[in-house]
Amino acid sequence: MDSGIIIPEGYPFSGIELEEIISPYLVQKRVEEIGEEISELYQDKVPIIIGVLNGAFLFMADLVRHLHIQFEVDFIKIDSYGNNTKSSGTVRLLKDISADITGRHVIVVEDIVDTGLSLKFLKRRMEEASPKSLRFATFLYKPDVASPEVKIDWVGFNIDDRFVVGYGLDLKQIYRGLPGIYAINEDAKK
Ligand code: IMP
Repeated sequence: MDSGIIIPEGYPFSGIELEEIISPYLVQKRVEEIGEEISELYQDKVPIIIGVLNGAFLFMADLVRHLHIQFEVDFIKIDSYGNNTKSSGTVRLLKDISADITGRHVIVVEDIVDTGLSLKFLKRRMEEASPKSLRFATFLYKPDVASPEVKIDWVGFNIDDRFVVGYGLDLKQIYRGLPGIYAINEDAKK
């Protein structure tokens, strides 16, 4: 189903329509399931949940509302895309975590794993601080692109190798607020 949202002038793929690939209903249902699984696994523990900015802010916010355990939150901000639709190949740390995670149970929450470069960077950064345990959740995963080097404990959805927006994900900073996941419908090119 097309969303009827046309990419504005001045953006990559301008004039092309966005295509809904995961509905807002399915997004919420899957987040709830992951929340239940995390709650079960961390009963009697107080994990630190680290959101990866900017893209993971909505997933993180919804996920923690489905947890029925005690938890703490922190954030890290990295960048590998700049304003582009392809990874630059290098990851920059824009804001580090502020919590002391040594000896703590850590869950890193990502929006999407594309090449997996960010994930590798995050794993290295977290392991430097010797957490007691370290797990990763990502809302989206592109199996055709991602290198499987880092184990991911929770994947919301596997998706095809297409650029997607919505639910925190952006195209040059727009579309983060869309409640579902939308791909650029290149078939719609005139
Ligand atoms: P990776 O390092 O290549 O795995 O890329 C991870 C980061 O790139 C994500 O956290 C996103 O911020 C961004 N990214 C990757 N694919 C997409 C996409 O399809 N839409 C929007 N952002 C993306």
